Amino acid sequence: MRISRRDFLAGAGSSACLGIRPAAATMALADDGFVELTAGPSQQKIYKESGPASSLWTYNGGVPGPEIRVKRGERVKVRLINELEEPTSIHWHGVRIDNAMDGVSGLTQDAVPPGETFEYDFVAPDAGTYWYHAHNKSWQQVGRGLYGPLIVEEEEPAFGLDQDLTLILDDWRLDREGALDLESFGSLMDWSHAGRLGNWLTVNGVSLPRFDLVAGAAHRVRLINVSNARVLELDLSDLGGRLIALDGQPLKEAMDVPSGGFLMGPGQRADLVVVPAEGRELALREISGADPFDVARFAILPEGNVRASYPTLKANALPEPDLASARKLVLDMTGGAMGQMAGMTHGGEPLTRERMRETGQLWGLNGVAGMPEVAFFRASSVETVLLEIVNDTAFPHAMHTHGHHFRIVEQSRAMVEDTGTFRDTVLVAAGETVRIAFVADNPGKWLLHCHMLEHAAAGMTTWFEVL
Ligand code: C2O
Ligand code: CU
Repeated sequence: MRISRRDFLAGAGSSACLGIRPAAATMALADDGFVELTAGPSQQKIYKESGPASSLWTYNGGVPGPEIRVKRGERVKVRLINELEEPTSIHWHGVRIDNAMDGVSGLTQDAVPPGETFEYDFVAPDAGTYWYHAHNKSWQQVGRGLYGPLIVEEEEPAFGLDQDLTLILDDWRLDREGALDLESFGSLMDWSHAGRLGNWLTVNGVSLPRFDLVAGAAHRVRLINVSNARVLELDLSDLGGRLIALDGQPLKEAMDVPSGGFLMGPGQRADLVVVPAEGRELALREISGADPFDVARFAILPEGNVRASYPTLKANALPEPDLASARKLVLDMTGGAMGQMAGMTHGGEPLTRERMRETGQLWGLNGVAGMPEVAFFRASSVETVLLEIVNDTAFPHAMHTHGHHFRIVEQSRAMVEDTGTFRDTVLVAAGETVRIAFVADNPGKWLLHCHMLEHAAAGMTTWFEVL
């Protein structure tokens, strides 16, 4: 789980000044009020300006896709236009959405074939930081760039647009020339180990961007980890400030940013409030490797006519789990390299070594590798489910529930998640047991999977149904 400088290509990229808006794809609004997201191939430089362009798949021609902003309770209307050569769909990560709009190919909709369109139309019930991404062969489609931010504002935005930054962090694997390494997509070595780890980090599609902050003003910094598999360890101490939300949901109380490394698993988000002092440039650093490096820099502009105070974020109306009456279930994770593989099945058949090689299935949830025919559990709305997640593997996993946020009730190894907030994705360290609880109140079929996208593809995917 370490990034070492040696793994990274030498040197950092150009320090492009983005101002505060991401240099992303632009938003296209059709006459009928739908935002249009066209998934298609595009060329973009993610390494240095002097380096080669990469063959990406993006929304509207750039990575990340356009930032979609709505207010809490508003409708999100998006027309997906598929100009890829393979089927796709869009999932709205973290949104407590109508099941039919959840965008999971093969579960909540058929994948949209090349040349066709699909209309997503749903209400965004909770304010906060979310994201959207492809949900068909995500290990490749997200890995090639099919993702973007979805920001749901409070009715009265807590921060002005100029004080509200979105930073999408992605970990790419570049080849020797500095272009996206296409060859290694689907490598069983990655699938059986930590997933596809990269060697180059971008923020909003750019290497080492510089943002402008205003001295004395309160800024909201929204961090989103969209990496296929990288658990980022960020040093937030230079930025300082307070942690105010995780996975879109406000903390009960703002916390000082942790002084050590702050872990963010794939899929997770964290919102900070930063009030910089006048003076030197600040840096956001990745410190998991032997040789930490800057991932973004922040120039501090002289104090203007600004607000240093900020309102407390109002909690979203999430149902509180009732532990006393909870239905208790266990989710046991096995498989993977150096893991327990005995007794696993896939498609009803014993999963032999040979079958593993043939199918690429090598991780199991409760002994089953891959999507089971039958739901892991069926809950009646509004039942509290207490899920004990046992990591019997040699790797960490970022477990994600669709359609529901949960509380972390217990975690055998205290981590930053331990904040009493609601989350939609939880990091479970190797050997660790985590208990989560949520009210199953959203009818439909929901995925529950590891957000290390290679693990999900290699078997760590199941589903539950709310009746
Ligand atoms: Cu962001 Cu099924 O995932
Ligand atoms: Cu995993």
